[in-house]
Amino acid sequence: SNPSLLILAGDGIGPEVMAEVKRIIDWFGANRGLTFDVSENLVGGCAYDAHGTPLTDATMAKAQEVDAVLLGAVGGPKYDSLDFGVKPERGLLRLRKEMDLYANLRPAQCFDALADFSSLKKDVVAGLDIMIVRELTSGVYFGEPRGIVKEGNERVGINTQRYTESEIARVARSAFELARRRNNKVCSMEKANVMESGVLWREVVTEVHQAEYQDVQLSHMYADAGAMQLTRAPKQFDVIVTDNLFGDLLSDLAAMLTGSLGMLPSASLGAPMANGRPKALYEPVHGSAPDIAGQGKANPIACILSFAMALRYSFDKGDEAARLERAVEDVLADGLRTADLMGPEGGSPVSTTGMGDAILAKLDAG
Ligand code: NAI
Ligand code: MG
Repeated sequence: SNPSLLILAGDGIGPEVMAEVKRIIDWFGANRGLTFDVSENLVGGCAYDAHGTPLTDATMAKAQEVDAVLLGAVGGPKYDSLDFGVKPERGLLRLRKEMDLYANLRPAQCFDALADFSSLKKDVVAGLDIMIVRELTSGVYFGEPRGIVKEGNERVGINTQRYTESEIARVARSAFELARRRNNKVCSMEKANVMESGVLWREVVTEVHQAEYQDVQLSHMYADAGAMQLTRAPKQFDVIVTDNLFGDLLSDLAAMLTGSLGMLPSASLGAPMANGRPKALYEPVHGSAPDIAGQGKANPIACILSFAMALRYSFDKGDEAARLERAVEDVLADGLRTADLMGPEGGSPVSTTGMGDAILAKLDAG
């Protein structure tokens, strides 16, 4: 049977960028014999409008059952005053939580044509291709106890950084598996110098490496030094694995080495399913961009590259993923730019659809 894909385009520019991905999915069906069973549903504000909840149980069940979920973006000013429990992002959080997506993959890749766009010197970033694996379901954002409590005469804000061995081991495995498909190199980042969770992190990553992945080169770095090294000489890294909090910061930092939010894909992976593939959700890093929604200005590349990640990590179609990434690279090399990729000097940007057309033309050209 065909591989299955659930599309949740969401709100704002979500449906606009997803429309371009759908054309690309159709292209792979028509030209490469790669046909997906695609189903579509609502998530976020649009799901709240239709059903009073940002994610229905039926959509949640479907997400559990398909080979991969592809999400656009959720949210918008229209929904800002909703109760916390039905806010658009709760739909996304529910997907991540119930699918138990513990490994968040954030590539930072520099397309040559955009190297001038980086805030760093061109030669520091040209050719950059690294992957940050952030633990996504545990750590200080979830640890108990938490809260704001009264101690004597003042309030105290409390969060707890807490990691179990198995939580560290499973995300370490994700990083090592990924390294085997890339350049066999992992750098693990924590602060074992000042944090107990960091000490355990380093121990467990080392144990998993010793037991199962000795063919992969492993190094360790304190996360603060890692931040420095990422801006000084990012090309020294290949796969970086780190906890939820450090990963949040380091992946945002790494992302901006390469330019626009409109270019950045991501994947969130969970435990292997019966077919051996991980549970997976793919989505652009950006949000619903209400400031440009409905104007045909959105850059569809982040969402398109998220689909390329799905081809590679959920469907074992690394060659087809590379073909799609090359098509993106080629249109950029030709000078095609959506508005977000224009420097202060300006120029004439292409529309969302115009960018989709150009990428499809490159795919046609082979
Ligand atoms: P945002 O990522 O939506 O937009 C930030 C800026 O980047 C805006 O100026 C926007 O126009 C621009 N931008 C983003 N994606 C772009 C693209 N593909 N092409 C061209 N320009 C692009 O973040 P913001 O403004 O903080 O949040 C807007 C809404 O999105 C909020 O409701 C927020 O909660 C939601 N959001 C949703 C996320 C998700 O669905 N995963 C992630 C981040 C925010
Ligand atoms: Mg962040």
